[in-house]
Amino acid sequence: MSEVDVDLRGLGDFTANPYPYYERMRATGPVHTIRTDEFDRAWLVVGYEEGRAVLADARFGKDWRSLPGEAGGDPVNANMLGMDPPDHTRLRKLVAREFTSRRVEALRPRVEEITSGLLDAMLPSGRADLVDAFAFPLPMTVICELIGVPDLDRSAFRKMSNGVLAPGSAKEEGEAFRAMGAYLVELIEGKRRSPGEDLLSALIAAGHDGDDTLSPDELVGMAFLLLVAGHETTVNLISNGVRALLAHPDQLAALRADFGLLDGAIEEMLRYDGPVETATFRFALERAEIGGRVIEPGDPVLVSLAGSDRDPGRYPEPDRFDIRRDTQGHLAFGHGIHFCMGAPLARMEGRIAIRMLLERCPGLEADPDGAAPDWMPGTLIRGVRRLPVRW
Ligand code: HEM
Repeated sequence: MSEVDVDLRGLGDFTANPYPYYERMRATGPVHTIRTDEFDRAWLVVGYEEGRAVLADARFGKDWRSLPGEAGGDPVNANMLGMDPPDHTRLRKLVAREFTSRRVEALRPRVEEITSGLLDAMLPSGRADLVDAFAFPLPMTVICELIGVPDLDRSAFRKMSNGVLAPGSAKEEGEAFRAMGAYLVELIEGKRRSPGEDLLSALIAAGHDGDDTLSPDELVGMAFLLLVAGHETTVNLISNGVRALLAHPDQLAALRADFGLLDGAIEEMLRYDGPVETATFRFALERAEIGGRVIEPGDPVLVSLAGSDRDPGRYPEPDRFDIRRDTQGHLAFGHGIHFCMGAPLARMEGRIAIRMLLERCPGLEADPDGAAPDWMPGTLIRGVRRLPVRW
């Protein structure tokens, strides 16, 4: 087994608080070799400039099918986030128009209605697990309605989706991928039999005719990506954001006193403790030198978005949560051709959720009797499974 700079698997408290580790690594350089659950040796980029550069660098690809010895993989992987141009361009073009700021703005009244309904149900109890009662059902309901699967079995889906994005073991991950694939094939069959006026029905129709063709696997991959990316991340924007506010009472008070600070506060939540800790794996298509290290063709590369966004070279006093700071250029939504397609939707949901929650729960605080935080494992998603609060 080759030597690495850092074995992430050996760091017991890395999941709960990876930031000091990123800081220590950054102190000796922006790029390091690591051991992860997936690879004995991969590269980790923790510097802002280098991270941003790698995300937009065509020498780093995403399509593992192009590597020698790689099989086709599960159909859920046949999605744009795992592809390079021209496949990536074709798939993204098919749905991008549904997620523009203008399209998303039209969803605002419905997002407000869903948010308000969740708060109506939650408020009388005086305490709740904010993830379960609010942060999870809000984005899940929105994305299900948009795609056209309002009757999705949410708890079954959440379990599979957690298993895919934050697996406890390789076995759990394999099972979750297979279960997810089978589940989506069935879902698509149902839609095929009774189409509606929704995105999934439109995509199924697009699979039959025109230039915008989708293979059956790509259809499964698209449904997977939109459903999973559409909620796993936004849940943690809301819950990480609330955790940051509760831990910084001065910032919470400032926001409550002036909701004009809301948009900036959401951006700072994304920079300070964003939902996606490291971007998905890339691999070098050719030899590339980054931050003084030489990355060989085929080497897997992770960009730590969390590490980059705490680089003091880019954000002064990066560990300070400051809702008034200039957060421009943060990498929480990625960068380059894979920049998050759902950013306008996520921002709108985040703003509505945080504002309505604070308005309707004036005494919101952490519940001292609540269970200890249960961190999502792995390096992809950063967040807690439970957030006990009271008001
Ligand atoms: C706060 C919430 C969200 C965050 C922090 C987030 C973050 C990200 C990041 C970092 C990437 C790029 C990953 C990489 O390059 O490896 C990405 C891609 C993507 N996101 Fe999001 N996301 C969020 C919400 C959403 C929502 C609501 C949707 C709605 C469907 C969505 C759909 C997508 C899609 C389709 C891609 C792939 C784009 C491509 O490959 O061209 N995301 N997201």
